[in-house]
Amino acid sequence: MSGREKIRLGVLASGRGSNLQAIIDASEAGTIDAVVAIVISDAADARALELAGRHGIDAAFVDPRLHATSEDFDVAVIDLLRKHEVELICLAGFMRVLSPHFIGEYRNRIMNIHPALLPAFPGLHAQRQALRYGAKLSGCTVHFVDEGVDTGPIIIQAVVPVLDEDTDESLSARILTYEHRIYSRAIQLFAEGRLEIRGRRVYCHGTDTLQQHETYAWGVTNP
Ligand code: GAR
Repeated sequence: MSGREKIRLGVLASGRGSNLQAIIDASEAGTIDAVVAIVISDAADARALELAGRHGIDAAFVDPRLHATSEDFDVAVIDLLRKHEVELICLAGFMRVLSPHFIGEYRNRIMNIHPALLPAFPGLHAQRQALRYGAKLSGCTVHFVDEGVDTGPIIIQAVVPVLDEDTDESLSARILTYEHRIYSRAIQLFAEGRLEIRGRRVYCHGTDTLQQHETYAWGVTNP
């Protein structure tokens, strides 16, 4: 994207890995100034691990059953991240809550993607929650991770409509296409050193081809 040095990402994923794939694609295409240094999973059969292998990226399974507490598990993960000199951690469908110790070690350097417009519908099955609630709009959120569940400062959100005929699957698929777009965008803004957190708010310095409002809210404004 520019001549700038690439930041090193550690991606934590528990499953399918489509967000990981989008990040790898953006890295390989040079649309983000970042490389995936390691992929870590808490599930031995996660497709994310296989994807990493296919792209020549280091991949590790950390077995939760071999660690007595979640903090012990996190210490093992932190050790791998340090060895790979990771600068930004991306949670991509990682289905564990990180311990306060982990958050403290990487404060403001952990991002998560969530398939709803936070603070609505945090936690599991966000798309189903939106459907059951009867929301007319939903979407996805990239945010920094703090000690809560899906509570950290919001970086970018994308909005999608909820249609009358939607099922869990159709709404999830519509949201997912925007997840793939905004996650890479957030990583690039971080890589460019343009994100500043003040309290709950994340400010983006400088302008580029996108207008400020478009940087923060995709979907309805960028169909
Ligand atoms: C994505 O929809 C992501 O937003 C969600 O899990 C899916 C992972 O898909 N994450 C959460 O619900 C976290 N609360 P992927 O493995 O294909 O990237």
